[in-house]
Amino acid sequence: MTIRIDYSNMIGSAVGGISAEEWTGASGNFDTARSGFEKLRAGGTVGFADIVSDTTLRDQAITFATRAKGRYSDVVILGIGGSALGPIALRTALRPSGWNLLSDGTRGGNPRLHVLDNVDPETIAALLARLDLARSLFVVTSKSGGTAETMSQFLIVHEAVTRAGLSAKSHVVFITDPSQGALRPLAVDTGIPALDIPQSVGGRFSVLTPVGTLPAALIGIDVAQLLDGAADMAKRCDSAGSLGENPAGVYATLQWLADTRHGKTINVMMPYSDPLRDFADWFVQLWAESLGKHKPDGSSVGQTPLAALGATDQHSQVQLFMEGPKDKVVTFLAVDDRRVDLTIPHGFKEVKELGYLGGHTLGELISVEQRATAGALAKRGRPNLTIHLERVDEWHVGGLIMLLEIATAYAGQLYGVDAFNQPGVELGKQFAYALLGRPGADEARKEWDTLPAADPRWSV
Ligand code: PA5
Repeated sequence: MTIRIDYSNMIGSAVGGISAEEWTGASGNFDTARSGFEKLRAGGTVGFADIVSDTTLRDQAITFATRAKGRYSDVVILGIGGSALGPIALRTALRPSGWNLLSDGTRGGNPRLHVLDNVDPETIAALLARLDLARSLFVVTSKSGGTAETMSQFLIVHEAVTRAGLSAKSHVVFITDPSQGALRPLAVDTGIPALDIPQSVGGRFSVLTPVGTLPAALIGIDVAQLLDGAADMAKRCDSAGSLGENPAGVYATLQWLADTRHGKTINVMMPYSDPLRDFADWFVQLWAESLGKHKPDGSSVGQTPLAALGATDQHSQVQLFMEGPKDKVVTFLAVDDRRVDLTIPHGFKEVKELGYLGGHTLGELISVEQRATAGALAKRGRPNLTIHLERVDEWHVGGLIMLLEIATAYAGQLYGVDAFNQPGVELGKQFAYALLGRPGADEARKEWDTLPAADPRWSV
């Protein structure tokens, strides 16, 4: 079982990468970054790398899912941002393709999994209209227990469930902070069960808490393997003696050098694997919300993450990656052994465009296309690296999550920003509260009122 990063296409001017000297010179920066992160861990403020070995937390999800077995045909996550992207990525990666369309028998009696990650009324009304509420479980996921989108979804669902004469206690579960926020006291008042997101784990780092492990366990994903893979990666990074032995350190330091010294301000996450396609969106949030920040001196930092999919985007964004501005690093996700493969038949041998394909497999084709694209980019001076997963299973996905989470934490230290807050989203939230009349939003309302009114000259 292996996860390996090949970063040959990041080093040297021929590939448009960083120099070997810069790389060697950065080991001191990395050592400082690593000890900064270790201090946060030791102080108990940042817990995502340690909770994967917390069996009590793991058992919360497994016990709940075991008791729920056979009771629900549909599980619906109500949540947004870090409360939604992880469960979506796990479902796509670790369940067969088209999970929600499969018959009950093919799903092994496990429920469908829907994730309401927005408040567009069209989607929510359509889902509620199709669900059998008596066979549905709604998982309300919010670390803060106060997010307007999630609370609105909850109010709608709660009313629908009670109007149908059902008990909320049997059809709703909360996943939230152990002591803070509105959902905890509500759990006590209503008897709705509540699982924990540890205080030291923020939204976008929470997929390996019940935020991800409960939905995963409910749909039959092996949560113990997922967490073991993650713990193994955490150990690999912890025990690494030098930068070159630490996969998360390598990833973070390469991106930081490429961005701050070579103007590679965009980090493209490009899996060559449909099961990993939603993983790219999960990563985009992690990298963007953690690193796009003001530094204490007022300057702005952070690479812009961009999701792409191979081979699909070879017919779309790759043109830009090859010939557009030289401001990108591409991170490929490659899979060595595919769970399923199809051999391309030997048909129409005499047709040049078809004949050479026969006898190869689709797995071979997609892997060759990944290598070819990586090579072509390097040839044109476009740096890239490849994270190889031996296969897409629970262990490797857990490891990949941990690799990128630790890399994000290290990168925060390298950039000199707090990777665990998100002050930039606050003003928009406060304006929305003011416009909706939430108590305590008077200051935001005053600030909103100072904005210039829309000017008819600039409208068409
Ligand atoms: O990473 C984060 O902290 C955010 O993206 C949150 O996940 C998102 O804002 C939802 O917050 P909450 O889980 O508190 O409802």
